[in-house]
Amino acid sequence: MSGFCCPVCGEALTSTPKTLVCANRHSFDVAKSGYVSLLQTSSRGNHGDNPQMVAARRAFLETGAYAHLRDAIGDLAERYATDGGTLLDSGCGEGYYTAAVLERLGARMEVLGLDISKSAVRLAAKRCKQGHFAVASAFHMPVKDGSIDLLLQIFSPDSASEFARVLRRGGALLECIPGRRHLYGLKAAVYDTPYENEVSPFEKSGYRFLEQRHLMREITLETPEDIRNLFWMTPYYYKTGAREQKRLEERTALTTETEFYVTVYQKL
Ligand SMILES: C[S@@+](CC[C@H](N)C(=O)[O-])C[C@H]1O[C@@H](n2cnc3c(N)ncnc32)[C@H](O)[C@@H]1O
Ligand SMILES: [Zn+2]
Repeated sequence: MSGFCCPVCGEALTSTPKTLVCANRHSFDVAKSGYVSLLQTSSRGNHGDNPQMVAARRAFLETGAYAHLRDAIGDLAERYATDGGTLLDSGCGEGYYTAAVLERLGARMEVLGLDISKSAVRLAAKRCKQGHFAVASAFHMPVKDGSIDLLLQIFSPDSASEFARVLRRGGALLECIPGRRHLYGLKAAVYDTPYENEVSPFEKSGYRFLEQRHLMREITLETPEDIRNLFWMTPYYYKTGAREQKRLEERTALTTETEFYVTVYQKL
């Protein structure tokens, strides 16, 4: 499979029917759904999103509540695409944004996705047949130095030194983060004292700021299921006590702000 390299020795990987093998005979099984696990033992403590979170994210995103964000990411990916180049979606989750980008770019770029969560990668690989997907850590990417032309980091871990290593000079980093008021209505429904998110300054050493989209939109969820899925896909659910969880379970509708920054940087 093209795009990824051996996580042990860094050599290129070639496909045999059910495995990827490098010149040093390190071999990795390709799952039925088409992804490969290139995770190293040292990363195995962190499993990323669990199956419940992954299923909740898939179901929530399918409602179209973040379709405006998906479209903004698609627009920017198209603008900064490199024909014949390689795009990597780091922390791709279940592939909602990866699929949108693939649809926009067609065959213009080879598309790779990685995530440390096996259940997320399985769904992403099933959804995006033209992409290449690996279970791998963003902090130890099975990707060659300078081989990526466009890197997506959408609500996923910031592994600055790995990003700088894999992105070619002049390549683009598209980063999406939540704004201050993102999901404030959800937090207000759960907590006695909700807080705003912190947003760091948009400067990155080693990069030039190219452009930014700031998206703010109020959304209303009209079923307990949608509310539950939104809550389950956030880290809040896992940090919240039973009393507060119950408050949300009793809601039949919820209105909340959403706020995103999508920023594009160029690697110097
Ligand atoms: C908030 S989700 C975002 C997923 C996807 N980009 C989206 O926006 O739908 C964060 C993702 O980062 C993944 N993740 C967490 N730690 C990771 C790591 N060290 N390396 C790669 N992915 C990681 C999680 O498994 C999860 O899928
Ligand atoms: Zn190898």
